[in-house]
Amino acid sequence: ETVIGDRGEAPVPVTKRRKLTVAVAGFGVVGGGVIARLLANPDVDVVGVLVRDVNKPRDVAVDPALLTQDADALLALKPHLLVEALSDGSAGHALILKALSSGVDVVSANKQAISLDVAALHQQARDHDARLLYSAAVGGGSPMIETLRRARAAGPVAGFEAVLNGTVNFMLDRLSQGDGFDAALDAAKRAGFAEEDSSSDLEGLDAAAKVRLLAFEAFGAAPEAEAIARDVLGPDLVPAGPVRQISVCRRDGEALSARVGLDADPSDALFLDLNGERNALKVYGEDGRVWRCRGRGAGRWPTTESVLADVGDILRLRI
Ligand code: HSE
Repeated sequence: ETVIGDRGEAPVPVTKRRKLTVAVAGFGVVGGGVIARLLANPDVDVVGVLVRDVNKPRDVAVDPALLTQDADALLALKPHLLVEALSDGSAGHALILKALSSGVDVVSANKQAISLDVAALHQQARDHDARLLYSAAVGGGSPMIETLRRARAAGPVAGFEAVLNGTVNFMLDRLSQGDGFDAALDAAKRAGFAEEDSSSDLEGLDAAAKVRLLAFEAFGAAPEAEAIARDVLGPDLVPAGPVRQISVCRRDGEALSARVGLDADPSDALFLDLNGERNALKVYGEDGRVWRCRGRGAGRWPTTESVLADVGDILRLRI
């Protein structure tokens, strides 16, 4: 006979609840939000956090013992899941590949990392029975990848148009209200919308990476990054009326064409009524059907929510 707690000690739970062990790479706008939410989640155990500088002051309190500057040491903790929220595309890509090849599931918010070679990353995940999710990489808090998957499941996709960069959208609003270029860019940086290197936003590289990810969902293939023509937002642009940065991708037979343009006369109210950092997507089915979605495209909390939705999917699958 087993008597639990007969000498006053705490009862031993008969079954100990399993937790998802999570390593986080990156402690910036998105990484910080994700860490705050994961530390408050009773189903998750944060086992380590990869940072560039362990001594940097941070706006989210963590046990300093969790911080490391060594990516290999992070993966040596053998987490169930890696949340990758680095700002560097190639460092993120290398870390994701390494994690997947050890069978570690990956949730990424890093569009540059995933768009470098999305097909190869999916193959790596399949080869090692690991999951790869990245809904936060496009559209921040708006479900763009999910919308394209739904459209594709209904039939062949002819193309899509989208506003994919919150910083540029926010700045175009400010510029049309008479703000100067530098003031508008500073406000986007302060709000946590801009990339660490904001030339990625202004030169359309951020939007182009997102076009490639959406094209992969739409067509199973992505246009080459160099083949995506991009208009640059610079101090010389003084919008007289509504201007939007519109990304377009179409299939023409076997060929894909794509561009990221500054459009002075967006035809659809979906793009015109799009204040601040919001993003929007319009998908055209070959049969004439249209799918739309829009939402907050940048910033800590909307993007964190998308990451957390992916983490929730992993939790349901693995625990
Ligand atoms: N810098 C990006 C943007 C962040 O402004 O849209 C979200 O991907």
